[in-house]
Amino acid sequence: MRELHKLYVKHACREYLENWPELVKYCGYREDNIPQLQDVNTFLKRKTGFQLRPVAGYLSPRDFLSGLAFRVFHCTQYIRHSSDPFYTPEPDCCHELLGHMPLLANPMFAQFSQELGLNSLGASDADIEKLATLYFFTVEFGMCKQDGELKVYGAGLLSSVAELRHAIETNDKIQRFDPEVTCHQECIITSYQNAYYYSETFEEAKEKMREFADSIQKPFGVRYNPYTQSVEILSNTDKIVALVSELRGDLCIVSNALRKIHAEDEAVENINNMLHKGMNVSGVSPEKSPEK
Ligand SMILES: [Fe+2]
Repeated sequence: MRELHKLYVKHACREYLENWPELVKYCGYREDNIPQLQDVNTFLKRKTGFQLRPVAGYLSPRDFLSGLAFRVFHCTQYIRHSSDPFYTPEPDCCHELLGHMPLLANPMFAQFSQELGLNSLGASDADIEKLATLYFFTVEFGMCKQDGELKVYGAGLLSSVAELRHAIETNDKIQRFDPEVTCHQECIITSYQNAYYYSETFEEAKEKMREFADSIQKPFGVRYNPYTQSVEILSNTDKIVALVSELRGDLCIVSNALRKIHAEDEAVENINNMLHKGMNVSGVSPEKSPEK
């Protein structure tokens, strides 16, 4: 932890560093203490709704990804052998606690993780393999640009002194994230990766993933209902009409709030762009939508 901290200051992304003070305060993140999953669980629930579920080791990619769809993160509890503290081929509690937890407490990152999970529901085995590879090169080994510099957000890197140093020193292995290309990259479990991928922002990675998800053949769409904490299958127009009605309520809240804060023109334009992008990704033209 001491060695990693020296590297975090320079190489970890902003969103990762931001949550450290609260993890120290509420979850007992210290050099002389292993945080309890229950404390982290309570903290995550409050920050992003993510929940931890202990597991004894690797799950199948389909099982692991489906957990993310429900904002459930399957989490190991054992710890690596003290003879080799700087690298572990298997995820252990150092990897989960130091690598994953700070970012699962970030709303944008939590949403990115959940969308990956939702895309996996009902997908074919071949598509699950591609999604698992994309998860691997983003959530586990991803990088992004911040203030013109490459920063790390992948948990596999942020929990390994050895691989983090290796990744930042091997510039020629760092490529721009493109799901169509990245999904064919080999995932290496027992050694360092042959390639790392970066995106300009989390938002960009999310948009690219959404475009990629569009190419996955599924007979229905799915949506997570946060009130019932269940996944709804959007298999007929009645269900979609009910969802649109619910979303209209949320959009009214957004537009009322915008009016109340007298938002700057530029901010309003950004929000409109995001709304239109959302509609375009789902194949609905903003001009044809019933209520903008
Ligand atoms: Fe991991």
